[in-house]
Amino acid sequence: MPSLFPLEDTRDLICAPGTVIDIGGGRLELSLKELTEYQFLGFNDGHPRDLPTGLFYNTKGLQIWGDITRLPGYRQTEDEINLLHTFKDQIANWIVEGCTIVDMGSGDTRKVLPLLAHLERLGVEVQYFALDLSKEALEQTMAELAPEFQHIRCFGLWGAFSDGLNWLRTVKSPKLILSLGSMFGNDEFSLAVSRLEEWKQVMGPDDLMLLGLDACTYLPELWDSYHDPSKVWESFVRNGLEYSNEVLECNWYREEDWDVTGRIDEVPDVVHRFSIVAKRDIYCPPLGLYFSAGEEVDFFEAWKYGPERMRSQFKLAGFDELYKWQTPGNRPFFEYLLANADFGKN
Ligand SMILES: C[S@@+](CC[C@H](N)C(=O)[O-])C[C@H]1O[C@@H](n2cnc3c(N)ncnc32)[C@H](O)[C@@H]1O
Repeated sequence: MPSLFPLEDTRDLICAPGTVIDIGGGRLELSLKELTEYQFLGFNDGHPRDLPTGLFYNTKGLQIWGDITRLPGYRQTEDEINLLHTFKDQIANWIVEGCTIVDMGSGDTRKVLPLLAHLERLGVEVQYFALDLSKEALEQTMAELAPEFQHIRCFGLWGAFSDGLNWLRTVKSPKLILSLGSMFGNDEFSLAVSRLEEWKQVMGPDDLMLLGLDACTYLPELWDSYHDPSKVWESFVRNGLEYSNEVLECNWYREEDWDVTGRIDEVPDVVHRFSIVAKRDIYCPPLGLYFSAGEEVDFFEAWKYGPERMRSQFKLAGFDELYKWQTPGNRPFFEYLLANADFGKN
């Protein structure tokens, strides 16, 4: 494989469309282990235990994720697809020839398809990079996606967001960063701002970010979206917990010891968290873990910021909000188009 770095213009990429490029994927298990030790085993002094989101999106987790996005109660996927379909021409107007589109946490890429198909019809030559954690899932997606297009060259990027940040630093041609599926901006407010700032730093005056975030604050709908009667969400959570045994190389988690539930807080902002509750005293000496019966661990937060709170996030992170779209029918899903203050001044 020829060297892929540095890569100033992704049009110069010489590997075949459909290729999955390792930009850090080979190190993922190790960094996930370190992060789990830090966030969960208590190396993160003073902070409550937390489980890294990456644990839940292994190859099996991504398959379950596909089922979640089709649950009748989980409306945000359908809302975002509807939004991207309805406004694809307006969004496409911002995308220039030669643009490098990087889809951060691309999943099954189902959402971005209407936009890509529209660009293809217009004959706009762009490079589309789907970045995600599972090489297997990326290879499968690429095998289906890449042959569909003539004008759009599709590639996979195997790695974590941090690898994506480093990779983007090398790309000098115009970029569009996609954060679909309520990812960027979806943290406790100040953490969300500092994470957004990191992305802003890799963006030049020709670059854009399209960020989609669910803003459902109607509590019954919010609860139902994460607690389905068929327990698909629960199997997603339990799969992540089982995977944490593998990552930590120790079986601290046993299904029969834990209930899976959740919690909604409304102050200072509406947020849903999953929780596991110990059914009995649990002791795992090799990892130094002790839980008494009834003890709870919260993780996998979903913050429901509306346009006003997002505008504050963007401002504090140094972004200009160029445009905002809402899902038709007054649904609480928004897509924001962001750029640096010097956008277009190149
Ligand atoms: C909520 S899903 C969204 C998927 C897709 N963008 C959508 O809107 O349907 C989150 C995606 O981000 C990926 N992901 C989560 N954490 C990640 C990380 N740290 N680095 C890279 N990808 C990550 C997951 O594997 C998953 O595909």
